[in-house]
Amino acid sequence: MAPAEVSPIRAQTGDLEAALRPLVRLGWMSPFERFLFEHPDYASTVALDELRRSEYGRLDAQQQAYLDYTGGGLHAASQVRDHAELLNANVFGNPHSTSPSSTETTQLVERARAAVLAYFNAAGKYTAVFTLNATGALKLVAEAYPFEPGSSLLMTADNHNSVNGMREFARAKGARIDYAPLTRPDLHVDVAAMTARLTQAEPGHNHLLAFPAQSNFSGVKHPLALIGQAQAAGWHVVLDAAAFVPTNRLDLCAVQPDFVTISFYKMFGYPTGVGCLLIRKTALPKLRRPWFAGGTVNFATVQGAMHVLSPGEAGFEDGTLNYLSIPAVEIGLRHLERVGIDLIQTRVRCLTGWLLSALLALRHGNGRPMVRLYGPATTAQRGGTVTMNFYDPEGRLLDYRRLEELAGEQRISLRTGCFCNPGAGETAEHLTEDDMRAGLAEGDEISLSRFVQVMQTRGGKSAGALRVSFGLASNFADVERFIAFAAGLRDQTSLTLGAVSFDIENCRVIRDGS
Ligand SMILES: Cc1ncc(COP(=O)(O)O)c(C=O)c1O
Repeated sequence: MAPAEVSPIRAQTGDLEAALRPLVRLGWMSPFERFLFEHPDYASTVALDELRRSEYGRLDAQQQAYLDYTGGGLHAASQVRDHAELLNANVFGNPHSTSPSSTETTQLVERARAAVLAYFNAAGKYTAVFTLNATGALKLVAEAYPFEPGSSLLMTADNHNSVNGMREFARAKGARIDYAPLTRPDLHVDVAAMTARLTQAEPGHNHLLAFPAQSNFSGVKHPLALIGQAQAAGWHVVLDAAAFVPTNRLDLCAVQPDFVTISFYKMFGYPTGVGCLLIRKTALPKLRRPWFAGGTVNFATVQGAMHVLSPGEAGFEDGTLNYLSIPAVEIGLRHLERVGIDLIQTRVRCLTGWLLSALLALRHGNGRPMVRLYGPATTAQRGGTVTMNFYDPEGRLLDYRRLEELAGEQRISLRTGCFCNPGAGETAEHLTEDDMRAGLAEGDEISLSRFVQVMQTRGGKSAGALRVSFGLASNFADVERFIAFAAGLRDQTSLTLGAVSFDIENCRVIRDGS
């Protein structure tokens, strides 16, 4: 940990800047002091350093730099303790009954449901359906939305595959499938193109727009104003909030998407295996469940081959709920509320800003940039997910899978690959349909490494990248560990993957030796 991590500086932002300005001029500041100078808001988040010690001590005890919060959040020690105490002090039975043990479970599940609705300021307006994860929530919408010939599913090119997969239900029912493109190089949704598509919907049919509040690829925060705009044009909206809510407030009084999808482990690490679909009550009657199951019917008969679906959320929760884990959701939400989502957002923004500038400043001995960033280069309209590729001094791509291994040897957890978001990656790398076909022409046995090789021969393109992401327990030392790792790749040539040279600054190939 950086010695300056626990700063004595508690000054107001203005005082701090004034005090440090002479030191900056003289170049006497430590990296942490310089960080505080450039991101004075960080000083207001010192409470999170104490929290890291008391609740996430395992990170520093094991010298781990955890940089994969978009993959999964980390739980506080007290969440697990409180949950274990709850389980050990009570008798919880299957909730589908009226026995004391069953009633006790039902009460806790309903308390957790109410806590979810209250957290998102959605009480009264939304129904909360517990699912396995965000993917399960998206599938519930996809299979129950009344797609038909004449209706449409519109998605942003930037979407997790669990949203992209919704198109298979739409396609099977004859709906039109369309994507709104992204702008380059920032990977924002192209709002003009989106608006044009929204106005082209065939009147009298059901239309569904699906987009992520925050990209799990680039960290871009897509405009939530699109929700109202789409609804005014007669569309229903699915907001995939999985990557947004761990570090941002989602107020469902301020924006009212028809469907919101969430995985709780991304918000507070524990429990896994529980997600949520929030359904706006006005949109609930639109959904038609394609089947029934234990737990979702008020009445079913074999002889009459009929059933009556349970009303509200009960009609969507198939089988037995994960009733021992669901109470841990309330514990997790309480934890997040105690910590303060705005504080987390501030810290993540400061750390992200510092990382972005440090990466952009990295140069090889010959002056060439080392890193190519995908997505916005500043913290405006973006969260704490930063995706990149590294290049050697001649502009040749470094093998990101080897980089993940090397980072792992330094106990840095990050992620590489496509992050289940092919559309954002394709846009970032200018991959075309022809490129995809060239990859597919390799046959069913195509592997990611072979695909990357094929893309290298097609104008030095890359498929996949390296991603770091920040969250609740991140600190300055974590970022510095990654920056030091990245700086260690200066003048590195042994990890070079392809023979094609890429000019990062001008975003073009400069030599193709393949
Ligand atoms: C934006 C986004 N949507 C959906 C998902 C799917 O979440 P899960 O795997 O928990 O269902 C993820 C997971 O990374 C995500 O980042």
